[in-house]
Amino acid sequence: MAADKLSTRHLLGIKDINRNDIELIFETADNFKDVINRPIKRVPSLRDITIANIFFENSTRTKLSFELAEKRLSADVVNFAASSSSVSKGETLIDTVNNILAMKVDMVVMRHPYAGAGVFLSKHINAQIVNAGDGAHEHPTQALLDAFSIRQKLGDVAGKKVVIVGDILHSRVAISNILCLQKLGAEVMVCGPTTLIPKFMSSLGVKIEHDLRKALNWCDVANMLRIQLERQDIKYFPSLREYAMMYGLNKQILDSLDKEIIVMHPGPINRGVEITSDVADSKQSIILEQVENGVAVRMAVLYLLASQRD
Ligand code: NCD
Repeated sequence: MAADKLSTRHLLGIKDINRNDIELIFETADNFKDVINRPIKRVPSLRDITIANIFFENSTRTKLSFELAEKRLSADVVNFAASSSSVSKGETLIDTVNNILAMKVDMVVMRHPYAGAGVFLSKHINAQIVNAGDGAHEHPTQALLDAFSIRQKLGDVAGKKVVIVGDILHSRVAISNILCLQKLGAEVMVCGPTTLIPKFMSSLGVKIEHDLRKALNWCDVANMLRIQLERQDIKYFPSLREYAMMYGLNKQILDSLDKEIIVMHPGPINRGVEITSDVADSKQSIILEQVENGVAVRMAVLYLLASQRD
């Protein structure tokens, strides 16, 4: 049994939490999974809490998932999208958020294109902050739901071999996943073209492999990442077609492996690039389970953070 309190007031990154925190989040999420599978899916746990979801970057899954999690916990929810706000009129991040807080918001779930935006905010405002993705830095709830999904499928994360394939250089999902999986005792490998694997990877203690087939033969789980074209200022590979030939996961490769591996993807999927449709929709894929688990894991995070407000 994990201790009953998180070691942190905010969830800014996996870097700042420990194994006990992760296990506590998982145990709490197990309970919330039962709740969301009941006919009455709502519990009153966050009835007095107001949460603002402020998204300065596009999102479908993460935004919906947080909003559903908040509503299932009976929180009051306000949503803010930067594209339709006064940010486009030149307002600063702190001014925007202070205005939201003046309306008595207790927690802020924020996605922002700049690394460190959540940390910055947590130093300037009183509300609790949950990082829903900051640039190419961290995406802690994605990593938690990914590890939770591995635990659900394989019984445990410790000792499992996970390869993260694709655009590691621009991916906050990769960094948060590496830290989370390592804290839980998994072995992690990254696989992709040299240009998309940052040099600091070797200092994180992960294996590096450039041959997809070798990586897949090594692993129990393959987490396929999208090429983050919106963050690429130069060309890192000749063409998407060539990338797909070298690093795309298709049914032929999957079926030729010695063992049945599990296939994951944080979404959004670019079908035919990093993963073909027959793999994404195959029984080895747990992509939709990841989405389902996302709600329970986010409920657990919000509930545990709220329970330690001053
Ligand atoms: C990821 C993100 O936004 O970092 N998606 C998500 O949150 N489900 C990955 C991506 O955009 O490729």
